[in-house]
Amino acid sequence: MLPLTSLRLREYEMALAHTPVLLEELVELVDPRPGEIAVDCTFGAGGHARAVAARLGAGGRLIACDRDPSVAEYYHEVAAAAPCPVELYHGDFADVLAERPDASVDVVYMDLGVSSMQLDRRERGFSYAYDAPLDMRMDPEAGVTAADLVNTLSQDELTDIFRRYGEERYAKPIARAILRERGRHPLESTGELVGLIKRAIPTPARFGAGNPARRVFQALRIVVNDELASLARGLAEAHRVLRPGGRLAAISFHSLEDRTVKEAFVRYSAGCICPPGLPICACGHEPTLRVLTRRPVTPRAREIEVNPRSASAKLRVAVRI
Ligand SMILES: C[S@@+](CC[C@H](N)C(=O)[O-])C[C@H]1O[C@@H](n2cnc3c(N)ncnc32)[C@H](O)[C@@H]1O
Repeated sequence: MLPLTSLRLREYEMALAHTPVLLEELVELVDPRPGEIAVDCTFGAGGHARAVAARLGAGGRLIACDRDPSVAEYYHEVAAAAPCPVELYHGDFADVLAERPDASVDVVYMDLGVSSMQLDRRERGFSYAYDAPLDMRMDPEAGVTAADLVNTLSQDELTDIFRRYGEERYAKPIARAILRERGRHPLESTGELVGLIKRAIPTPARFGAGNPARRVFQALRIVVNDELASLARGLAEAHRVLRPGGRLAAISFHSLEDRTVKEAFVRYSAGCICPPGLPICACGHEPTLRVLTRRPVTPRAREIEVNPRSASAKLRVAVRI
């Protein structure tokens, strides 16, 4: 067998980079048409972007964005293969959308959470599977790290974060153990945090379904990247920039994300919002969104088999009125 040169290793890594989730379903439902303008809010390795750009054709335009500057390495390949111009912006999608002045966009889609590259590059500190610096920033040039949070927040604040964003049953004992440990030395690595969580929870809980650190890692990641506030703001901006008939889609990976998407869709698709009991409508509120997915679309068994990371995905799509 030929040894892997660094170039071939790079090609191999790129080929495995990230499998786009619910790809066919997303493209079919948002239905990008020739000549349209689409915004890919979460470019990653550009898996969804490639398929959408192919549908937009030579007269279309794809505006892509990502908080993680390292996606630029995938951008060049996607842009070279796309039939239409593809622009990439570095930043939070809520800010990138907020800079668009008018309702002229045909499609906006978001594939939320972290990419396989972020999880698998251990130095990013997203994964409880490897020992690495406790970082978890999607944009490694901005904001606070997970280590900053666990070393500075109070026990009550940490308990609240683990409960609220991780739905962690043992939030309090874990927060207490963190404070005890950091009294001796600051927590710096994912491995230290995983070990501490395992010791802080009752023995049977260590052997339950999945890694016992999963929920705390999810909670810290959400706070480090301010994910839910950014999602709520991004959905509002997407709603603003879509032209009537434009399509909005979001793929979420946990219940807090899905709830944020669902609540925005319910709010925008509601008619009258007067308190019950008023004899006639006083609010004059009109729906501005029509939901296409009464229930979220989920991956087929075959997709989950090939890409187990897709298992928790939920796709919701709506049309701007
Ligand atoms: C699941 S991956 C997207 C994968 C991509 N659809 C593909 O097919 O390769 C999510 C990406 O969104 C980015 N991201 C998450 N939240 C973001 C936000 N609020 N603004 C900009 N990018 C964000 C992450 O950095 C990550 O690269």
